[in-house]
Amino acid sequence: MDLFDRLNKLRERGLAEIAKVKNEQTLNEVRVKLVGRKSELTEILHSMKDVDPDKRRDIGKQVNKVRDLFNHNLDNVKTEIAKELAEKQLEKERIDVTLPGRTTHVGSKHPINIILDDLEKYFIGMGYQVVQGPEIETDHYCFEMMNLPKDHPARDMQETFYIDTEDLLRSQTSGDQARVLETFDFSKGPLKMVGPGKVYRRDDDDATHSHQFMQMEGLVVDKNITMGDLKGILEMMTKHVFGQDRKTRLRPSYFPFTEPSVEMDVSCFNCDGKGCAICKYTGWIEVLGAGMVHPNVLENAGIDSKIYGGFAFGVGLDRFAILKYGIDDIRDFYTNDVRFLEQFSKEER
Ligand code: DAH
Repeated sequence: MDLFDRLNKLRERGLAEIAKVKNEQTLNEVRVKLVGRKSELTEILHSMKDVDPDKRRDIGKQVNKVRDLFNHNLDNVKTEIAKELAEKQLEKERIDVTLPGRTTHVGSKHPINIILDDLEKYFIGMGYQVVQGPEIETDHYCFEMMNLPKDHPARDMQETFYIDTEDLLRSQTSGDQARVLETFDFSKGPLKMVGPGKVYRRDDDDATHSHQFMQMEGLVVDKNITMGDLKGILEMMTKHVFGQDRKTRLRPSYFPFTEPSVEMDVSCFNCDGKGCAICKYTGWIEVLGAGMVHPNVLENAGIDSKIYGGFAFGVGLDRFAILKYGIDDIRDFYTNDVRFLEQFSKEER
């Protein structure tokens, strides 16, 4: 065959082959095949020695033209492939700027902690220290030291979870009193403390009962402490929490670790004392227990009860929160439904 014919055929075949290339790998294969060292083009160049010298120039020119054409088309295809690849990538990474942004969920304080933090600040402001006893308490501190010996009938009210015969999930924070009393150095001044924390009691949970709740213990011991001091503090605290126009009253009560013992009521915030379903038509709502520290509690801790005396109080913080925020199910505090919790995000102070 005439070399010109061969070149023409090769050009047609080559161009058709280049046109079919779809990816980088075949592109390289086709490039090697068409313009590589062992390509047909090279072969044609080599066979030129058998051609008339006057035709050689033309064939040489022709071979270069075909090679340039191949290279040109191969480069075009290469650009095309790269472009397609970039487009695919862009499509994959495409960002829909019209989508709403992702919001981070910011939590807020638990309602019981709102009350607790506020009360802690309040008492710290009056020179009280905040103490924290263990949640797994010993029978010794929880009961014995607090004037509740093993056979005391008042233990029944606080039946709780014993881990063994001596250790239990504390049923009250009152044991904190004994722990502090035992080590306090009275030469440094009066003892003033609050002790907040979780307490546990065996109970069937319902809207008003929970086997776990939060208490805050209070204790002041010094010389010449009177019931008037106790009344003043309790009145100030309840008004601070429930509002200055609340009235308070003390009723006689019984606790093994205080004598005399009282319970404090606050005039109903709902009906202002007129009587409604919330206060069971009494006009009053019970909010805490308190009293003058029983001499046995002081003596148990090695303190001379003829010289020192004091008052103590115990607040149920769940109850405070329930009354303050009008919560109708104590279980809401512990089931952690964010829809419940979110309602208090603006209450933080
Ligand atoms: N510990 C008592 C209870 O859980 C509450 C209480 C009452 C604590 C009177 C006190 C107090 O410190 O003086 O029911």
